[in-house]
Amino acid sequence: MPAQPAPTVGGDETLFEAIAADLREGGYSVRHGALPEALAASLRTEVAALPAQSFRPAGVGRAGDHQLNRFVRGDAICWIQGASPAAAAWVAWTGRLREALNRHLLLGLFSFESHYACYGPGDFYRRHVDAFRGEANRVLSLVAYLNPGWGPADGGELVLYRDADDREGLRVTPLQGTLVTFLSEDIPHEVLPAARPRYSIAGWYRVNGSSAARGDPPR
Ligand code: OGA
Ligand code: MN
Repeated sequence: MPAQPAPTVGGDETLFEAIAADLREGGYSVRHGALPEALAASLRTEVAALPAQSFRPAGVGRAGDHQLNRFVRGDAICWIQGASPAAAAWVAWTGRLREALNRHLLLGLFSFESHYACYGPGDFYRRHVDAFRGEANRVLSLVAYLNPGWGPADGGELVLYRDADDREGLRVTPLQGTLVTFLSEDIPHEVLPAARPRYSIAGWYRVNGSSAARGDPPR
């Protein structure tokens, strides 16, 4: 029997280039069916099987001022460490996206962190930005959805606002395979209440905070 062909690497380059073009154009990108199907399915299987005690109620605020606020957000999160095959494949795929974006946009993205999020029925996340100007080392946000067969009646849309003045927004259905990326400081967004459990992965690419005055890591 002939040997199994090696899995194609680099097959996502066209997609990554399209995401880079979207980001250059408007600061955000919404791509349906972007996540490779096998990867989405294995992440979905993993998140759905995680024991309840793996999740923590999500907080708001910066490191020194971190607090729970159910009026702002009600989801529960579980950080992805990369130990399982699904997580390792996710880290590898987002790593290739990072390299492509650095090549196309010269963003200097350096590291990546991500967590699973579960929004129970009625949970929401009020309008917010993911990074604050001046202290930003979160540069690019990424959200991937893990809900097969999600329809309009299920709610839970992500609403992206083009800038601080935009009140109308663009609604994104959190259907499995859809990938949203946006500039963390520039694009306000919110999560509307869902009618049934809603799974996503939220992640952030950071730049290295090095400067002449302060090393990151310290020199
Ligand atoms: C976040 C976030 C959006 C989503 O975690 O900061 O905005 O659709 N998530 O899960
Ligand atoms: Mn956010």
